[in-house]
Amino acid sequence: MRKRGKKIEANLEYLRKLFIMPDSPDKFIEFGHELLEMIHDFFKEKGGIHSSITLPELSRIFNQTAVPSDPQLIKDVLYEIKTKVTAHSVKVGNPYYVGHMISAIPYFMILLEMIIAALNQNQVKIETAKASSFVERELVAWFHRLIFNKSESYYQKHIQNPKIALGNVTSDGTISNLTAFTVAREKAFPPDGDFAGVREEGVQRALKHYGYSRGVILVSARGHYSIKKAANLLGLGEENVVCIPADLNHRIDIDRLYQKVKSFRREKGRRRTKIVSIVGIAGTTETGNIDDLTRLGEIAREVGAYFHVDACWGGSALLVDEYSSSLKGIEKADSVSIDAHKLLYCPMAMGLILFRNERDLNTIKQTSQYVIRRDSVDTGRFTIEGSRPFACLKPWAALKIIGRQGYGLLFKSARENSKSLKEILERSGNFETLNTPELFILIYRFIPRAVREQIQEWRKQKKATRDKTRAKEIERNIRKVNHIINGLNIKLHKALRRDDTTFVSRTKLESTLYRPQNIVVLRAVLINPLTNNAILNEIVETQNRIGMKIWKEFESAYLKVATGNSVNP
Ligand SMILES: Cc1ncc(COP(=O)(O)O)c(C=O)c1O
Repeated sequence: MRKRGKKIEANLEYLRKLFIMPDSPDKFIEFGHELLEMIHDFFKEKGGIHSSITLPELSRIFNQTAVPSDPQLIKDVLYEIKTKVTAHSVKVGNPYYVGHMISAIPYFMILLEMIIAALNQNQVKIETAKASSFVERELVAWFHRLIFNKSESYYQKHIQNPKIALGNVTSDGTISNLTAFTVAREKAFPPDGDFAGVREEGVQRALKHYGYSRGVILVSARGHYSIKKAANLLGLGEENVVCIPADLNHRIDIDRLYQKVKSFRREKGRRRTKIVSIVGIAGTTETGNIDDLTRLGEIAREVGAYFHVDACWGGSALLVDEYSSSLKGIEKADSVSIDAHKLLYCPMAMGLILFRNERDLNTIKQTSQYVIRRDSVDTGRFTIEGSRPFACLKPWAALKIIGRQGYGLLFKSARENSKSLKEILERSGNFETLNTPELFILIYRFIPRAVREQIQEWRKQKKATRDKTRAKEIERNIRKVNHIINGLNIKLHKALRRDDTTFVSRTKLESTLYRPQNIVVLRAVLINPLTNNAILNEIVETQNRIGMKIWKEFESAYLKVATGNSVNP
C-alpha cells in the first residue's frame, strides 16, 4: 500500500489543477465520487451514536500547533478526514437520536450543498450573485406570504422590488433575532428633531433624548439565549431582557406580562422604561410550546411596542394548514424569525427574518461606494452580515422537491412520534411527562412509580390541609424529593450517553408544577421521519432499565424523606 502523508512540492502547475478549468483535466469527478462514497459509508456504519473516543483523546489528535506548510495529496487529506473526523462525528441522523433540533436530512441536500459550493455566489451583491439574489427574494416572499398573507398585488409589487426587503436570509436564528431587535431598537428611538436616531447617536443619547432610564425586551422565561446576546450587542444590556414566568403549559404568563407592562407605565420622570420589544415564542427551544401570539400582539399594539415572534423552531409549521390555528396571531408580528435547519430539514445552517412592513429594513440599510451602492439592487444593503453563501437554495429547492404536502406528511410523522412517546412513557409507569407537545418536543423525567405516587399523595394532602405548618412540611418534602429526582435524572442522562445506543437531551427548567423549583428533565425532539414506534419503545426500555439500576443509589435518601427521617439534601 502507498505510504500515506506523502509531501508534495508546492508547484503552481499542480495547484492550478486543484481548480476546475474548462479546458484542462482535473480530478474533480474522481475525488467527488470517492467523497460521496465516504459520506455514504458514514450512514451505513453500525455502532453507537457518538464514537467512543474521549474528548482528551480527540484533543491529542488535533494538537498540531503550526499551520501546515507542505501541500498534501487530496487523497491523503480525505483519508485523514475519514479516520479522524467522520469516524468521530455524531450520528445526528440516526433514528435513535431524538435529543436535539437536528435530525436526518434528505440526501438531495448534500447535492445542493455541492451546487452552492461550486457556484460560490456571494449574496451580498448582484455582481457576485445574479440569479441567486432573485432566488433569495422569491424564497423570502414565500415565507412573508405564509405569515402575513398580504394581497397578490402586494407580492407582485414587492417580490423583486430592490428598494425594499420583505426580509433577509441569515446564517441562523441568532442573527435573525439580532436583525429583528436592531430594527426594533431603531423604531423605539427614531430620529427626532436634533436627535439623529439611535443607530447614529447610540443608546445612551437615545435614552437621554427620549427621557428613559432603560430599554427592555420582554420575553417568557423560556426565551432563547440569543435574545440576551442581541440585548448585549445592541447596548441594551442583558439584564434588560425581562423574563416573564411561563404558565402551566410553558407559555408566557399573559397576566404577569400585563402586570409588568402596567408597572412600566406607572413609572415617572427619568426612571421610565421604554419597551423596545415584546417577544412571542412559536415553539420554545426547551418544550416546543407556543405562546398566545394573539394576546401578545394585542398587548404590544395597546402599549405601542414592537412585536417580534421568535419562530425559529416552529415557524415552518405554517406550511401546513393544520398548524395555522396554533400559530394564530403570528400575522400581528412586526417581525418573525424562522430557521431552515430546523423544521425544513435543511443542513446547518440558515435563518430567515421577515418583516410585516416592507420598509422596516430600510431603517438599518447600509450602503458603500464599492458595493451595496445606494442605488444598487444588492441584498447586502439590508443585512447585518456581509458576505453570505447561497444557502437559500436549500429550502428553495426542498420546498419544490418535498412541497407543502410533503412537509405535511413529515410533520404528521413527527406528531405521531411525539404522541407515541408520551403514551409509551406514561404506560411504563416510571416516568412523568411534563408538557403536551405542540411542536414535536416532549419533556419528561424518570421517576419510579412509587415516588411519583407519593408526590401526588402529598400534593393532595397539601391541598386538603388547613394546617399551615403541615402544608409547609409537605412542600419541603416535595422539594427534597424533587432534588433527589434531579440527581437521578442527571445520572441517568450521563449513563445513557455512555450506553450510546439512544440519545435524548437534558435541561433544567423552572417547574410549572412545583414552583419555585428547578427540575431536571429529559427532552426528546421527535422530527426524524426514520424514527418509529418500535424504536421509541426501545428508547424507553433502555431508559427504564438503566434508570431502575441507578435508582438503587438514590432510594435510601428518598425513603428517609418519605418516612420522615430526612437529612437536608
Ligand atoms: C426558539 C429559538 N430561537 C432562536 C434559536 C437560535 O437559533 P440558531 O441556533 O439557529 O442561532 C433557537 C435555536 O435552537 C431557538 O430554538
